[in-house]
Amino acid sequence: VITKIKARQILDSRGIPTVEVDLHTNKGVFRASVPSGNSTGMYEAVELRDGDKGVYLGNGVSKAVKNINDKISEALIGMDPTLQSQIDQAMIDLDKTEKKGELGVNAILAVSIAACKAGAAEKEACLFVPLYKHIADMSGKTNPTLPVPAFTVISGGKHAGSTLAIQEIMILPIGASKFEEALRMGTETYHHLKAVITEKSGAHNCNVGEDGGYAPNISSFREALDLVKEAISRSGYNEKIKIALDVSATNFCIGKRYDLDFQSPQKSGQNFKSAEDMLELYKELCSEYPIVSIEDPFDKEDWEHIKHISSLGICQVVGDDLLMSNAKRIERAITESACNALLLKVNQVGTVTEVIEVVKQAKEAHWGVVTSHRCGESVDSFIADLSVGLASGVIKAGAPCRGERLEKYNQLLRIEEELGDQAVYAGDDWRQ
Ligand code: PGA
Ligand code: ZN
Repeated sequence: VITKIKARQILDSRGIPTVEVDLHTNKGVFRASVPSGNSTGMYEAVELRDGDKGVYLGNGVSKAVKNINDKISEALIGMDPTLQSQIDQAMIDLDKTEKKGELGVNAILAVSIAACKAGAAEKEACLFVPLYKHIADMSGKTNPTLPVPAFTVISGGKHAGSTLAIQEIMILPIGASKFEEALRMGTETYHHLKAVITEKSGAHNCNVGEDGGYAPNISSFREALDLVKEAISRSGYNEKIKIALDVSATNFCIGKRYDLDFQSPQKSGQNFKSAEDMLELYKELCSEYPIVSIEDPFDKEDWEHIKHISSLGICQVVGDDLLMSNAKRIERAITESACNALLLKVNQVGTVTEVIEVVKQAKEAHWGVVTSHRCGESVDSFIADLSVGLASGVIKAGAPCRGERLEKYNQLLRIEEELGDQAVYAGDDWRQ
């Protein structure tokens, strides 16, 4: 049973406060901490921040910490940690709001994840606790599957200080035979990319953005994609490595137009594109480069063009800002065939139980599922186990660089090792 819950404020990868919790049971102490994103939308669960501008510029989370130490711990002490849905429901009932803003999703999710880890340990007599297996059991006996890693190799948009509007260019080693090989292929390509950028424009263009991708100061999509294409070719993995984009177009949609110069200090305003122009551009890029997936190609309320690009079948279309991992938005997108993959951000949902539910919803519609980090990450590797346990097919956790990103990829290596002969890598089946 849960005997004690103790939360504290720690810092995330951006140096911004976040919540960490230690949940004690008779089996040990289970620690979890939560991520946070740059772009937050009105349909996602709400983080509780102190708002006192004099302390951490208003970003403190002492109220969320206090909510755990007082209210949540009072409600959960004595509960069986294997009863995830009851634990999550108890917190939802305590919060009483639709978006978890009363206690704060940062408080609720931290406890939900810690309880999940404790639940896995409670079930097992042995020392090694397969968290992914506990998650697979809870989701109805999914076959644990190692996801294809989507490594961010170029960072732009709001995740970097360069002039590239696109937020992430990712590489997917779909042709690897196992996760360990995928990690090697992606990492080698990442290092080749550094050499390519250095040769073309100097080492100062190899500084990395918040997800660990390089942030060369270029603004042309093609120029950026050419660098990646060259790196893939130098690494010798043509055909085996595909490309994915997170355009995060909501961030630069002004009125009905897209400002491709939104990151430029001059803000020349010369590079506005209409949605039709963007659609044409995506069609061209998908035919010129091995692009297999595009996330948020249009503004989050531009359902018409998202539907249009999905109907073309030129690549997977992932809804991130479009869906905000919100069950009602997902339902609408399924009904209207607006996109065909879910970007799963656990802190937009709020509890492990609800995360399992939205993944089921997406899978029932035969969508792809991309388990995702946030730009503000902690070293908690929970999403690695989650992606295996829910067989999400793809995990996006940043570059093979920066500790908080690598913690996820390294955990996947450990899981693959532990599964041994039983390990299955999603590979070509990444969309299923
Ligand atoms: P965020 O970015 O964490 O800043 O929201 C991640 C993404 O857009 O995929
Ligand atoms: Zn995104």
